[in-house]
Amino acid sequence: MDNYAKLWLEYSPKGKNKDCKLLKNIVFGGTASDRIIENAKKELTLGLKGMLDITPVITVNFDEAAGKKPEQTALSSGKEILDSEEYTVFIKDESLCISSKSSTGILYGAFDILRTVASEKDVETVYADDKTVRPSNPLRMLNHWDNMDGSIERGYSGKSFFYENNEIVINERTVDYARLIASVGINAVVINNVNVKQAASYMITDRYFAKLAELGEIFAGYGIGLYLSLNYASTIEIGGMDSADPLDEGVKAWWKEKMAEVFKKIPTLKGFLVKADSEGRPGPFTYGRTQADGANMLADIAKEHNALIIWRCFVYNCRQDWRDKKTDRARAGYDNFMPMDGDYHDNVILQIKNGPMDFQIREPISPLFGGLKKTNQMLEVQIAQEYTGQQIDLCYLIPMFKEILEFKTYCNGGTKTSDLSDKECSDGTVTGSEGWSDIEDIGGNGSVKPDSCDTVADIISGKTFNSRFSGIAAVTNTGNDFNWTGDYLAGANLFGFGRLAFSTGLSSGEIAEEFIRMTISNDRDVVDTIKDILLPSRAIYEKYTCPLGIGWMVKPNTHYGCSVDGYEYDRWGTYHRADHLGLGVDRTDKGTGYALQYNEPNASVYNSPEKCPDELVLFFHHLPYTHVLHSGKTVIQHIYDSHFEGYAEAEQLAAKWETLRDKIDKDIFDNVSERFTRQLYNAREWRDQVNTYFHRISGIEDEKGREIY
Ligand code: GCU
Repeated sequence: MDNYAKLWLEYSPKGKNKDCKLLKNIVFGGTASDRIIENAKKELTLGLKGMLDITPVITVNFDEAAGKKPEQTALSSGKEILDSEEYTVFIKDESLCISSKSSTGILYGAFDILRTVASEKDVETVYADDKTVRPSNPLRMLNHWDNMDGSIERGYSGKSFFYENNEIVINERTVDYARLIASVGINAVVINNVNVKQAASYMITDRYFAKLAELGEIFAGYGIGLYLSLNYASTIEIGGMDSADPLDEGVKAWWKEKMAEVFKKIPTLKGFLVKADSEGRPGPFTYGRTQADGANMLADIAKEHNALIIWRCFVYNCRQDWRDKKTDRARAGYDNFMPMDGDYHDNVILQIKNGPMDFQIREPISPLFGGLKKTNQMLEVQIAQEYTGQQIDLCYLIPMFKEILEFKTYCNGGTKTSDLSDKECSDGTVTGSEGWSDIEDIGGNGSVKPDSCDTVADIISGKTFNSRFSGIAAVTNTGNDFNWTGDYLAGANLFGFGRLAFSTGLSSGEIAEEFIRMTISNDRDVVDTIKDILLPSRAIYEKYTCPLGIGWMVKPNTHYGCSVDGYEYDRWGTYHRADHLGLGVDRTDKGTGYALQYNEPNASVYNSPEKCPDELVLFFHHLPYTHVLHSGKTVIQHIYDSHFEGYAEAEQLAAKWETLRDKIDKDIFDNVSERFTRQLYNAREWRDQVNTYFHRISGIEDEKGREIY
């Protein structure tokens, strides 16, 4: 047996499609053969042999007229990337055909067919009409927070499979990893932690070039671009200089020479991710320069090598005094990046965390989305479950990501001129079938879409502002554990992130169903039971942890488990401000003013305790415990009820899982059962600590008289 699971590429025998003649003759059309095509052939051959005992004859039929699009490079525009990655699967003359303008598109088509077979859908029916899929986002990226000593920052599934003892490790698992992520549509990967320290600073030196070049080739064979996190102060740390001032000619000259060397030695490298001026990392602020100065200096040099600079917006003061009620960490991203909208050069992408704080179970959407109008933007989410259960507690994150993507920013003025334009943009993207339903409508003429077309999905797909580069990145949840993600069901977040990034229109349920069918079982009862477990899991986690959008209340440093005051009197800007009368942070016009960073009507909605949605009300308002929510409950009663309910519902999840005992693979069953045991312990701790804390501090009894310690 292998020493790691194959997950959704298991290719175990399937009952359906055994006699499907179409699968015996497969034609790739539209592009000349290359290593990606060879990998697509290999994959189909392996998959169809394993699942159906069919050895397909695969022909490559390069049609000059259809093909001809250049392969995707970092600097082909977002629209070109989408164009070239689109694929069509269709039936012609007893053959199943895939056509695309690029070999990557053909590879995606091959994985589409394998997904159909693995989920036991009828091939003839699925492809009876031509099936065309265009990815929703140009960049679909995973960010590894792997360190070169083999540890993973916020990793919950073992050690890194990229590094051991400060060396890069390349083996069969590396190739299988590339296959796994390409199969769900990932086309970019950053392989080292954003906190670039020690050995990682030397990634851009001779010490690692050979291995990085080899790694880059493996990824390139699956249409995946290699990116590195960069130490902003490399001039000092490895260059022996005394400055990293972005406007210093010496600094620029150093980078010019360095990048020429790096891109020559690692030809597949597509660019860099930079965390600057954040949580102790160096950056342009040290020299009195702006974030744009820093990003542009690197981008201008990277551009000579056709590469991108992805610059993170996670810049805030992490040395705050908790008594200072005006400094608000939530404001920081907008305050630091908005003033330079339009100044960032065209191969810079700003990477923005979904919320203004830090991957809490509930946060409002960053107001930079809808604020920035002249800047390339990418959304950053976290599938590593740092604050959402650490791959012990189950938290299927796709419903949360759907909410983020569907959020209306009102960046185009907030008025709708017609229902039609609404449909053509966000509605088509978010709720349509796979891919974009409105392919002709992308524009590409540099104009801003009128009105609507203003959801986060619209912005990051590049549609709203016809931006050149955009997309979505996830801090990934993988490690060298047997099943890659610690909790087997956390694999649904890895799978789901890729599928959602590629086809934003898919629903959380559709994605869950695909994952279950491909990795666990096609038995209808099993599929339904696991869907019933995955889909509500995020809501349940939210119920027994931090109420009404307030966040934090976690144990410091580890971020797992409850500590109501753990981050309260600390320096990180993470306060709930509870006293004997009430709790919540006043971020209205009378408080920190954060609510006003949104476009209307969002600003007015968040600014008002009456209008603000319940789930975010304590993020924006400091309220008495007796304040009545839209739900009709008081704040304090909501806290009690949701914590009792959350624990009870977690128990139900575990009980549902128990019904699968003899119906699924024993290792999978045991792995998830063990996690549920730990989840229940954790959920009980959260319930009791939160309820006790607020019972004592408020002095208000639970209406239902339940046991509070
Ligand atoms: C969080 C996380 C850190 C990480 C940081 C980031 O604060 O706890 O480990 O480095 O986010 O996103 O850079």
